[in-house]
Amino acid sequence: MAQGLPNVLEEWKCLEDEYQQLQEIHRLYLQKLDEISKLQKNCSSSISNQRNRLMEVSHLVKKCSTRPSEEDTKTLEEIKKKIKTRPNAFFEMEAFLPKKNGLYLSLVLGNVNVTLLSKQSKFAYKDEYEKFKLYLTVLLLLFSFMCYFFVSYRFLDAILNFLLVWYYCTLTIRESILINNGSRIKGWWVFHHYISAFLSGVMLTWPDGNLYKIFRNQFLAYSLYQSFVQCLQCYYQSGCLYRLRALGERHNMDLTVEGFQSWMWKGLTFLLPFLFFGHFWQLFNGLSLFRMAQLPDCKEWQVLVCGLCFLILFMGNFFTTVAVVRQKIKSRNQKTKSL
Ligand code: COA
Repeated sequence: MAQGLPNVLEEWKCLEDEYQQLQEIHRLYLQKLDEISKLQKNCSSSISNQRNRLMEVSHLVKKCSTRPSEEDTKTLEEIKKKIKTRPNAFFEMEAFLPKKNGLYLSLVLGNVNVTLLSKQSKFAYKDEYEKFKLYLTVLLLLFSFMCYFFVSYRFLDAILNFLLVWYYCTLTIRESILINNGSRIKGWWVFHHYISAFLSGVMLTWPDGNLYKIFRNQFLAYSLYQSFVQCLQCYYQSGCLYRLRALGERHNMDLTVEGFQSWMWKGLTFLLPFLFFGHFWQLFNGLSLFRMAQLPDCKEWQVLVCGLCFLILFMGNFFTTVAVVRQKIKSRNQKTKSL
């Protein structure tokens, strides 16, 4: 027997045994995957079935509501209350089930499943999204700082605008994936990023002329300010995320719901003046561009289109932020009443 062969044989036997074990584990894994996909289909069809039946029951309840006795009114009220909470429960269940991508994701990614199946991976994805936003925002802040104070080349402005287009397009994709995973991002913020991508694209095509030079510094200062506010916003939102995660994970509750609420309110009241100032800056940009569009030597279509975009951004941002704050105040008041 060749020297060293016994050693090889022994190693090989060991490897073979491990390979058999691996095959068994993998077989088990495939079997469980199969079970899981059956369960997923089962759950999804049960949910849609429940939704339909719920609609039917709500109709029946409405019909019954004409002149019921006192006891019946109580029962009906209870059923109505439960019917109201069901859609939320279905929404939460669906966050852990694979579903068809919406139009935008199907166009960009095709029909690949983007549902993350555990809470940890959802948190990790959101965390990574916030970090991505922060890093890109810092880069944009430095870039606009450089363009504003040190160099004045149309070429560098174009790179800044291209970066902005790429950043906002990426955000729309990531946010669609987050929404698919149960995030409650309001539709406006996603729409805001589409408009911002469009606005930066239009800025990119604005030819270097007198009017561009007049608006350039105002736009760069605004970009600088917006990046600064976005850094604050990222800090606030990742703070919310970490605290919510700690609340969900720790059963000994060294972090309480009230603790989270008070942190959130402190963060929000600090952030809001900066946000509103930014919104009025958008209005100011819009009005300046409209005034510019009325000048006799204004030939560029970009002036009016950018003005319109800024105006839409102002209205959407301002009214959505006011609505978010009102909703938060309302739910806080309800909580303090119920305590
Ligand atoms: N962009 C992306 N996601 C946002 C968002 C925004 N502007 N505002 C809220 N969200 C997300 C939250 O992260 C949360 O996600 P989750 O369900 O995955 O946890 C969800 O939407 C619900 O958030 P909500 O409770 O409504 O608000 P919040 O406390 O997280 O943030 C504000 C409230 C006011 C700070 C936030 O909406 C905001 O920053 N708005 C202003 C943005 C703006 O005007 N930018 C321009 C600056 S010049």
